[in-house]
Amino acid sequence: MPVRTIAFFGDIVGSPGRRAFASAVRQVTDHHNPDSIIVNAENARHGSGLHPDGYKDIRKIGADAVTLGDHWLRAKQIFPILDDPEEPIARPANLSVQAAGKTSSSISLGDAAPRLHIITVLGRLFMGYPADDPFACIDREIARITADDPPALFVIEIHAEATSEKIAITWHCAQRHADRVVAVVGSHTHVQTADARIVDHTLAAITDLGMSGSRRSVIGRQIDPVLSFMREAKPAAFDVADQDLAATGLLFRIDTDRRIATETIPLFYTCNS
Ligand SMILES: [Fe+2]
Ligand SMILES: [Fe+2]
Repeated sequence: MPVRTIAFFGDIVGSPGRRAFASAVRQVTDHHNPDSIIVNAENARHGSGLHPDGYKDIRKIGADAVTLGDHWLRAKQIFPILDDPEEPIARPANLSVQAAGKTSSSISLGDAAPRLHIITVLGRLFMGYPADDPFACIDREIARITADDPPALFVIEIHAEATSEKIAITWHCAQRHADRVVAVVGSHTHVQTADARIVDHTLAAITDLGMSGSRRSVIGRQIDPVLSFMREAKPAAFDVADQDLAATGLLFRIDTDRRIATETIPLFYTCNS
């Protein structure tokens, strides 16, 4: 059975998040030896956006592909990299048709195996950033990639606040794209959900991957400024927190002949360096 193992980690928050991710890459490699590692890096630049230096660092640490979210354009220096077809990073796909950057990236799973394409869509419920219909966008993006032989497989990342919207996207992919989509993972809340599973014997799913960053924090930011903003309504700079680092995500295995996911393992690694 030709099996490929993929590890996908949640949003890297600042340089502490990069340290947590680096430690997690070492540990997941020791424990599971994944073929490919994917990570969301939308908060890697001081907690918001991704700078080219951060992208290069995250790639060097071991990410084979990098994804973004609603903070994708906070550092516009990343635009040339987003436009470069050789760089395995894309912006969220369901934005204005004139937005800069690729709408998907892809990684090789080996010579005779299907290529694995990665698409991120933004949710529309309780999100501040204006996004297009994520369901129609997924249909459009999967229909667009037809030249691959054998036919490409897809990982869909739904970057959204509402668990309902993420789970609805998961069922949409299971109903309409079971022959192409092998995983649907959520991101954005920075809190890992306890529902890693195989849906309908075909695709791996988790409602949220969680985060690579500080757990002594409010979703990666220092506690006191967030409390003073929320509790006392005072303006505050939400600096990145750097204590009690961990990285969470999902490991899933794909049978590339049967074109299905066969196993999911939730990942949780405290930073040991
Ligand atoms: Fe995030
Ligand atoms: Fe986000």
